[in-house]
Amino acid sequence: MHTGAREHSGPLLFPGSAVLGFGAWGIGGAGWGAPAEQTERLAAIALALERGVVWFDTAPTYGDGESERLLGLALGRHRAKVRIATKVGPRDDPRRSLEQSLQRLGTDYVDLVQLHEIAKGWEARLETLHRLQQGGKARAIGVCNASHVELSRALRLAPIAAYQGPYNLFDRDVEERLLPLCQDHGLAFLAYRPLASGLLGGGFSELPRLSDGDHRTKLYWFRGAEFARRSLVIAKSTELAAGLGISLPSLALRWLLSRAGVTIVLAGARTAAHVADNLTAPVAPLDDATGREIDAVMRSAFRLPAATSAAAEEARSWGPRERFIVENLDGRATPEAIAAAWTDRGEQPMVAAQVKVFADQLLDSGLAV
Ligand SMILES: NC(=O)c1ccc[n+]([C@@H]2O[C@H](COP(=O)([O-])OP(=O)(O)OC[C@H]3O[C@@H](n4cnc5c(N)ncnc54)[C@H](OP(=O)(O)O)[C@@H]3O)[C@@H](O)[C@H]2O)c1
Repeated sequence: MHTGAREHSGPLLFPGSAVLGFGAWGIGGAGWGAPAEQTERLAAIALALERGVVWFDTAPTYGDGESERLLGLALGRHRAKVRIATKVGPRDDPRRSLEQSLQRLGTDYVDLVQLHEIAKGWEARLETLHRLQQGGKARAIGVCNASHVELSRALRLAPIAAYQGPYNLFDRDVEERLLPLCQDHGLAFLAYRPLASGLLGGGFSELPRLSDGDHRTKLYWFRGAEFARRSLVIAKSTELAAGLGISLPSLALRWLLSRAGVTIVLAGARTAAHVADNLTAPVAPLDDATGREIDAVMRSAFRLPAATSAAAEEARSWGPRERFIVENLDGRATPEAIAAAWTDRGEQPMVAAQVKVFADQLLDSGLAV
């Protein structure tokens, strides 16, 4: 399906205003340090279900199928009242992958199947997802982790209904282009990593010692300058949360639930205690004054430096991406704006994290102030 595309995107599955969903990566048991007991992880799903959570997001890679298996076990006889979203890996055969997911989930359809990453051949995979939707295996299709340029292309190829990307207090790339694009096209926006992979859980007052199997050892915000910047914001946000009588994660989720264009906030949880706490977030909206205070502390903690004239000189011999960053480091531009402006060019996308890491390197070598 190409001509015009984005027709018949599926039944009206998504809520009209933002809701809290259940992110089921952690309950897969792998990639998050020592796993909680299986009974504990099942209890987390059961509590979410009991308290009215409808959307459950998983993937074949979460715990190598264990997340889907546990969801299948816990949600089985409640299938009709929940919505299950799963994914297809960027190098997997979509048909086989989805069939295996359905088996593990113990169901004959998912509500949403999403392309997990954009990689070579993604357009053909997306078209296969559409055929699987037409065959009744999925009620709707979506993509994750695409740039706005790629998402615009996806909209011209198939009737996608949803986009899933990272969004939390700190990681705001999507505000530049993706959220407005989703709003313009009536796409549901599923926010992942709403707690910055646990950093906004409040338990990391100093640099964490993460075990080898924990995927967070690879995340740049669990170390160095970015950890220090985020810690400043966490200190202020913890105070604001205490003033409201809620936990830090609850404040962070409330902040996200109040952002325009967000449809589902996928809060990851490994225990029933996490679920119970996270469900205090939708109880009340975030007041504007607190939202403004959070944004102000973010702006001051994340101000980019300005490149020196020596950096401009040296950048002449650097690659086009590095040169682009240096040209735009004027002490005023945000990392998200620089990354989005580069991505507009339609080449390899850039994200704010790359700008921040590069700006830190320039600072360290005296090429930015
Ligand atoms: N499409 C994609 O590429 C993609 C990528 C990532 C995630 N996702 C989806 O988004 C979901 C959410 O993201 P995520 O799980 O990576 O990260 P997250 O939701 O930002 O963080 C989850 C972690 O936060 C901590 N936590 C949660 N509630 C807490 C509470 N009330 N108090 C204290 N700590 C709390 C726990 O950390 P500890 O385990 O340290 O206690 C938990 O494992 C995933 O489960 C998955 O469904 C999708």
